[in-house]
Amino acid sequence: SDYALDGFPDYMRKEIAEQPEAVRRALLGRLDERFSTARLDGLRMDPHELRSVQRVKFLGCGSAFYAGQIGADLVEQLARIPADAESASEFRYRNPVVDGDTLYVAVSQSGETADTLAAVQELRRKGGRVIGVVNAVGSAIARECGSGVFLHAGPEVSVASTKAVTNMSTCFALLALLLGRVRDLSVADGRRIVAGLDALPDRIEEAIEAEDHIAEIARRFAGARSMFFVGRVRGWPVAREGAQKLKEISYVHAEAYQAGELKHGPIALIDAQMPSVVIVPDDELLAKNIGTIEQIKARGGPVIAVTNAMLPSGLADAEIRVPHVTEELDPILFGIPLQLLAYHLAVALGRDIDKPRNLAKSVTVE
Ligand code: AGP
Repeated sequence: SDYALDGFPDYMRKEIAEQPEAVRRALLGRLDERFSTARLDGLRMDPHELRSVQRVKFLGCGSAFYAGQIGADLVEQLARIPADAESASEFRYRNPVVDGDTLYVAVSQSGETADTLAAVQELRRKGGRVIGVVNAVGSAIARECGSGVFLHAGPEVSVASTKAVTNMSTCFALLALLLGRVRDLSVADGRRIVAGLDALPDRIEEAIEAEDHIAEIARRFAGARSMFFVGRVRGWPVAREGAQKLKEISYVHAEAYQAGELKHGPIALIDAQMPSVVIVPDDELLAKNIGTIEQIKARGGPVIAVTNAMLPSGLADAEIRVPHVTEELDPILFGIPLQLLAYHLAVALGRDIDKPRNLAKSVTVE
C-alpha cells in the first residue's frame, strides 16, 4: 500500500509520531481567530440550532468511548451544557430514552463498528439528533449520520488506536468551543482555547521527545503482572485510555480508578508488586493528586507520576514530564506519554505490537 512503514518498526510507533501532523490537519481551517471560536461546517447547524442543544451525549466503543468522556468534560467546562459519554454497546441494548433537546455524538475511527452503528440507527429510528465524529470518510456511520466532523487523522493501521483518539479529543475541543461561544464562554476564554489548540501540535511533538525516558521506565516496570491507572476528574478518562492501551498490546492486566475511589476498595490491592500510574495535571486538583500518591506510597506501592506540575522531589518512584498547554486541553496531551508507556512495555515483553491477539482493527460484528 502507499501507507508504508517508512523506517518505523511498526505502525503503532509510526502513528504515534504522526500525531503532530494529524492534529494540524484536524485543526486546519477550523480555528476562527477573529471570533475566538471554531468553524465546523460539517455540522450543518446554525447558531440558533447550536443554542437549542440542552444536553450532549457521546457514544462510542473502547477508546472512542473514553475519548467521548474527554469530550463530555470539555463540553461541560467550556459550554456549561450537561454532557456525558456512554458506551454505544450498552446504549443499543437498553432501550434508551431519546430526547429531542440532546445532541448525540457518535464517535468512531473506522466508522464501521457494529455497536456504534446500531446505536446511531436506534437514535435515528427514535428521531434523535445525531452527528458523527468519524475518521473514515464514506464509512457506514458517517453516511448514517449525514453530518458531523471528520477527524482527518489519515489511515490508521495499528489495532491500538493512537492518532485517531488524539484527533477525537481535539475535535471535541473544537465542538465544545463552538457550543461555548454561542453561549457564555467569553471572548478571552475563547481566545485562550484557540491559542491552546493552535499550540497543541508542537506540544505533542515535545511530549514525544520524552520517549527514551519513558522506554526506560517501561523496562523497569515490565515485570509487573498488573497495574493501576489513577486519575480524577480531567485525569480519569486519560487513566482509562492508558489502561486500555496497556492491556491491548502488552497483555498486562491494568485497571483504571478514579483517585477518590481508591480508598473505597481497590487500595486493598496496593503493595510493592502493584505499580500505579497517577495522572497529575498542574491544576486546582494538584494537592488532591499529591495526596493520592502519598496514600499509595504509604502502602508500599510504586508510583509513576505523569505530570506537568512541580512535584515534591522523591515523591514518585518515576516521573514522566508532560509539557504545559491550556489547562482544559491537558487530557489530550497527557494521552501521548501513556501511549509510549504501553508501547515500550509491550516491546520489552516482545509482543506483536500491530496485531495483538484476539483483537480486530474494527469490530464489525456483535
Ligand atoms: C483502540 O485501541 C481499540 N482497538 C478499540 O477500543 C477501538 O477504539 C474500538 O473498537 C472502536 O473502534 P472505532 O473507533 O473504529 O469505532
